[in-house]
Amino acid sequence: MHTPRTGLLALTLALCAAGTQAGDIEKAVDYRQGLMNVYVYNVTAMGNMVKGKTPFDPTAFARHAKDLATAARLDLLAGFPEDSINDESDADDKIWLDWDKFQQKNQALRKESARLAEIAKGGDETAMKTQFKKTAKTCKGCHDNFKH
Ligand code: HEC
Repeated sequence: MHTPRTGLLALTLALCAAGTQAGDIEKAVDYRQGLMNVYVYNVTAMGNMVKGKTPFDPTAFARHAKDLATAARLDLLAGFPEDSINDESDADDKIWLDWDKFQQKNQALRKESARLAEIAKGGDETAMKTQFKKTAKTCKGCHDNFKH
């Protein structure tokens, strides 16, 4: 006798849970893409100087390096709750199958960008360019494995 009611309740709860989840996934995707956009803004500005597309300005470079390192210290992993993929996302589900490796890739960015910010304070152009390339490689290092 109770079965139909219970069934309906279970269905309602399931739908509510699914609704919340879609909202949560959207927030997570927005958050991590937002962080990525902060990264790329700074990387592009520095990259343009490294490639000679814009004049090399050590002060501006140092500011971008500092902002990148600061952004990289934020909790990127909080933007990747388990299986949080939707139509807007280019994330690969390997992220949750190989979470340790994903974390290591994030650590690599943190380490190299912190070093870049440190080196940039010194104003040595050659050293800055070399460390910039190392830092940019950590972006690719993660994308090649975990982004479509
Ligand atoms: C630890 C892994 C990891 C690192 C490190 C990383 N990314 Fe990403 N990036 C991703 C993933 C995963 C996505 C796809 C996110 C999504 O669409 O859900 C992404 C997406 C992006 C996007 C697209 C954002 C959008 O609005 O769709 C840009 C731009 C980007 N990354 C730039 C960078 C730059 C620049 C760096 C280095 C400074 C970097 N990323 C470092 C994993 C990483």
